[in-house]
Amino acid sequence: MTFQEQIQQGIPSQLPQPKPYETNINHAPKRKEILTDEEKKLALKNALRYFEPKFHPELIQEFRKELDEFGRIYMYRFRPDYEMKARDIAEYPGKSEQAKAIMLMIQNNLDYAVAQHPHELITYGGNGAVFSNWAQYLLTMKYLSEMTDEQTLTMYSGHPMGLFPSHKDAPRVVVTNGMMIPNYSKPDDWEKFNALGVTQYGQMTAGSYMYIGPQGIVHGTTITVLNAFRKINKEPQGGLFVTSGLGGMSGAQPKAGNIAGCITVIAEVNPKITKIRHDQGWVNEIHENLDELVARVRKAQETQEVVSLAYLGNIVEVWEKFDQENLRIDIGSDQTSLHNPWAGGYYPVGQSFEESNRMMAENPELFKEKVQETLRRHAAAINKHTEKGTYFFDYGNAFLLEASRAGADVMSENPTLGREFKWPSYVQDIMGPMCFDYGFGPFRWVCTSGKPEDLKKTDEIACQVLEEMIQNSPEEIQQQMKDNIQWIKGAQENKLVVGSQARILYADAEGRMKIAEAFNKAIKKGEIGAVVLGRDHHDVSGTDSPYRETSNIYDGSRFTADMAIHNVIGDSFRGATWVSIHNGGGVGWGEVINGGFGMLLDGSDDAERRLKSMLFWDVNNGISRRSWARNEGAVFAIKRAMEAEPNLKVTLPNFVDENLF
Ligand SMILES: NC(=O)c1ccc[n+]([C@@H]2O[C@H](COP(=O)([O-])OP(=O)(O)OC[C@H]3O[C@@H](n4cnc5c(N)ncnc54)[C@H](O)[C@@H]3O)[C@@H](O)[C@H]2O)c1
Repeated sequence: MTFQEQIQQGIPSQLPQPKPYETNINHAPKRKEILTDEEKKLALKNALRYFEPKFHPELIQEFRKELDEFGRIYMYRFRPDYEMKARDIAEYPGKSEQAKAIMLMIQNNLDYAVAQHPHELITYGGNGAVFSNWAQYLLTMKYLSEMTDEQTLTMYSGHPMGLFPSHKDAPRVVVTNGMMIPNYSKPDDWEKFNALGVTQYGQMTAGSYMYIGPQGIVHGTTITVLNAFRKINKEPQGGLFVTSGLGGMSGAQPKAGNIAGCITVIAEVNPKITKIRHDQGWVNEIHENLDELVARVRKAQETQEVVSLAYLGNIVEVWEKFDQENLRIDIGSDQTSLHNPWAGGYYPVGQSFEESNRMMAENPELFKEKVQETLRRHAAAINKHTEKGTYFFDYGNAFLLEASRAGADVMSENPTLGREFKWPSYVQDIMGPMCFDYGFGPFRWVCTSGKPEDLKKTDEIACQVLEEMIQNSPEEIQQQMKDNIQWIKGAQENKLVVGSQARILYADAEGRMKIAEAFNKAIKKGEIGAVVLGRDHHDVSGTDSPYRETSNIYDGSRFTADMAIHNVIGDSFRGATWVSIHNGGGVGWGEVINGGFGMLLDGSDDAERRLKSMLFWDVNNGISRRSWARNEGAVFAIKRAMEAEPNLKVTLPNFVDENLF
């Protein structure tokens, strides 16, 4: 069968041969045993409802084995045989160009070069799933290959509920992931209901098909590291940045450190992942001996060398050793997966990687104790450094939250609402006041032709638009404009593409609209093929997350999620090609609501109308909320937006004189 025929077939009418478990692939850890015997029956019934009853006797055995061995039913046998990668959009079967663009994005999120655990349909973050099982993938691709521009596919946490009649301006796909009744949104609820096959963790861009490989996070981290050095009034050259994690997202840190121009030391406990990042050239050297590492750092400090050094071991050892050796750390952070602390996101110190993996499955209570003990030690070591002047920030991985829950010394002595911790989150100090409040956020695009030449042309177009805009940009946003012009100029040279031909930069509403409009014109003229627009959920308006994206909201509303919900509803009727809303992602199940969109630009007048309407809303929704929370940058930005668009009328806050209290 051709690739197209396999897609159109959906779930095959004959059972494919069972597939051997490939050991050279990075697999998801075994999930903890959580279902009762009765619930296991329910999980099996739920899985088998995708298949004709004549296959049940054979499949029930196999699925039961998967559930026992891995804690989940992935339906490995149904993994397709064709190569999993984003193809030229012209290769996808179907009646709707928009649906074909979505197929391309789905395949990119499962590409072996892109996805963290491709056979378990996990793109990043340890549990960020595109689907929960292969039947869902096959069925979704089939629906997309059949749908017209008068239909909408509804996705319930990975499960394609079906095609419903709609209209050409409606989204082609509406995605929800992990939408729980609030009281059932604890980490164990995810374990249980995911094992039952009725919900999934979509992370931010995995379950919304908008992950573009590590480039997005390289850009965000470069901006963060550059601004962290600005915050401490130090040039990055010769400065030391210490952090951890070489995984899906965290692996971007050494590369970003190199682009920013500092020395990066990064600990990682997983040897396989460390080697991958080294082979990919994302980290320059691997060290296994702490004394040697110290000597190497001193040498780099003396010569102001730009270099990234991986330490194969636990991050706690690095913080402690550098303190004993009195090695000055300028900037410190952490990017272990603490949104997922009990299932492989954070490894205890003093025991091997394998020992931890075993303990996690066989003795989860003891593992939890070890994690919490390590967090207390971790925070104690950081405290020693911050007392000596290190600038430490939480990098959106729930480090401070989990450390506080473990009783670590991370609480502020004089807490105020929103400033409960000793150290800020990167959004409180950097990303919020410098970027989000002004509307700057992660705008990304994918060239659907798959041609590097198209990406090069779009880079040039975007650069030209920003260079024209900076001429008349107000002082308040000059630095952001400059950083992004520099980024886009270096983007080709930095070779950031993994998977689809994608690019990211930070732009405000005006920048996003102007770049998108220029792309659409170039498509119309036939200079480039169609382009998918999107963004990370980690943005101005997309995410309500009290300890991350909205941590610099100080009016108490950071524990509400109205903004993210409004965002996705508003995008959906202003022309998005697909929209998504998720629980979890980044900081953990129950801790965040986040949403996003995808939009196909095909050079048409419809696309131009949609991009203007939707992008304007997509950014200004969040600015209005940030402004109402009295964030000064956002008040400035929303007033500017109202001057540019007379139909925008936003309620502005009045400031209260502190002396009145
Ligand atoms: N700030 C942001 O913009 C941003 C963006 C994306 C993700 N995140 C968050 O960052 C975290 C990491 O994401 P990821 O995709 O890289 O996850 P990941 O699970 O792929 O990588 C985390 C890595 O940390 C390693 N690790 C765990 N404990 C360790 C320890 N004690 N010492 C050394 N290494 C250890 C793991 O082996 C793993 O490779 C997540 O919580 C994610 O939500 C933040």
